[in-house]
Amino acid sequence: MTSRRIDDHPILGASPNCREVTITVDGSPLLARDGDTIASALIAAGWTAFRHTEKRHEPRGVFCAIGKCTDCVMTVNGVPNVRTCIALVEDGMRVETQEGLGTWRVP
Ligand code: FES
Repeated sequence: MTSRRIDDHPILGASPNCREVTITVDGSPLLARDGDTIASALIAAGWTAFRHTEKRHEPRGVFCAIGKCTDCVMTVNGVPNVRTCIALVEDGMRVETQEGLGTWRVP
């Protein structure tokens, strides 16, 4: 899949060279940039559904993008309900699509 990143913005200019980090999303490796939020890394890779609702199992993704609505929550390193629009990626991070309210999977 091609990246959805804007590498040369008409006003902001070229994006800086950033260190790459690898996160795992639903068991598959994904290259992200240091400084990405989890959501921005996923959107750049083409993801749109970050969780499914409890009652109707409808997909949800980024809505507010400022940490207020909880539409973007995912399970991160076994911890459910992490707002991915404000959580930064870390090398080796495990990110999982969340079903409903999520469950704790901390070893
Ligand atoms: S998109 Fe609203 S909290 Fe992340």
